Amino acid sequence: MTDRYDRPPTRVGLIGCGGIAGNHLAGYRLVEEAELVACCDIDAAKAEDFARRAGIIDAYSDYRELLAHDDIEMVDICANDEAHAEIAVAALWAGKHALIEKPFATTAAQGRAIIDAAKGAGRLAMCAQSLRWDPKMRAAKGLIDAGRIGEPVFVRFCQPSSPFWCREQARAYRDRAPDWLLVHNGMHSFDLLAWLLGSLPVRVHARSHPGQEWLPVHEYVSCTIRFASGAIAQAEENRIMQPPGYPFHCELYVVGSEGTLDLSDRLTHAASVYNEAGVNLLGAHTTWTPDQPDQPFACEIREFVQAIREDRPPPIPLEFSLTILKAVLAAAESMHTAEAVAIDG
Ligand SMILES: NC(=O)c1ccc[n+]([C@@H]2O[C@H](COP(=O)([O-])OP(=O)(O)OC[C@H]3O[C@@H](n4cnc5c(N)ncnc54)[C@H](O)[C@@H]3O)[C@@H](O)[C@H]2O)c1
Repeated sequence: MTDRYDRPPTRVGLIGCGGIAGNHLAGYRLVEEAELVACCDIDAAKAEDFARRAGIIDAYSDYRELLAHDDIEMVDICANDEAHAEIAVAALWAGKHALIEKPFATTAAQGRAIIDAAKGAGRLAMCAQSLRWDPKMRAAKGLIDAGRIGEPVFVRFCQPSSPFWCREQARAYRDRAPDWLLVHNGMHSFDLLAWLLGSLPVRVHARSHPGQEWLPVHEYVSCTIRFASGAIAQAEENRIMQPPGYPFHCELYVVGSEGTLDLSDRLTHAASVYNEAGVNLLGAHTTWTPDQPDQPFACEIREFVQAIREDRPPPIPLEFSLTILKAVLAAAESMHTAEAVAIDG
């Protein structure tokens, strides 16, 4: 198959065949500009199972074997957070473009090394931020950018849940540091807030609650973030909801100088806009267009691959993601010291 430029699809190797790799696989099925041709997991059985599901032949247990293939143009890194930087730097220097799951790195030095490798090797790299392609979030961004609530001054965002937080299911979290949930998931929230507000974070104050005594990870973290524009945001990382299994839901509202936008999942309709004209209840069909596929992973993969094919910068610049990572790490510092921390932009 060829695309509108009459070129064959970009050949992709996926590294890390766990939970989120399944969502990426569903995405690739909708992206005709890309073709998944190889996969890798340190657990060989997982790599083979993924290869079977994806209908591909090449399954590896060492990412370096995958990188040795000259015909693979891009890697999609879905391994655990701590492995991202090492794999990304190696992949970029091996001449591959790299889409990297959030958080793309776990320290600022790692983030800088990835940026340097991308520049040095002349390849594209991007931190995957699926929330930006969520139809609901795109609707929020569209309404804000259209001026429906004036200048945004305050946002409250959280996605409370407790899907994993019982002893049997918490293996992945048992040995993590207290700030792990914040670093792991804060990259989602902080990126979303900066994108919605169109401004970078400059200062953060975080407080946390340890939650259940058998987990070192703090299950609840509340962050107050100031942005360069002067806007303030309140973001919660919240897995403390009981009972275990309490489903994910979204609480998002944005207060502007001329109105308030409410996109809470608890509404019976998709969103409400409150402004001088009164209250406008938006149904699902009015908040996103039918040609915007309801598949955030497909959308983020497609836009990254199109940037590669058109030789232009990726939709989310890595420098932007590095500032977001620094903000999350500043929040982790604040969580420990209880002091507000300025973000090194
Ligand atoms: N965008 C989203 O909404 C979203 C949702 C969940 C997870 N994530 C991110 O995706 C990543 C993976 O999360 P998950 O929930 O799939 O975790 P997971 O533990 O289910 O899967 C990770 C896989 O990576 C493999 N792995 C680890 N180190 C590796 C290495 N060096 N080489 C090859 N494989 C390696 C593990 O064996 C495992 O199979 C995380 O960084 C997470 O933050 C993003």
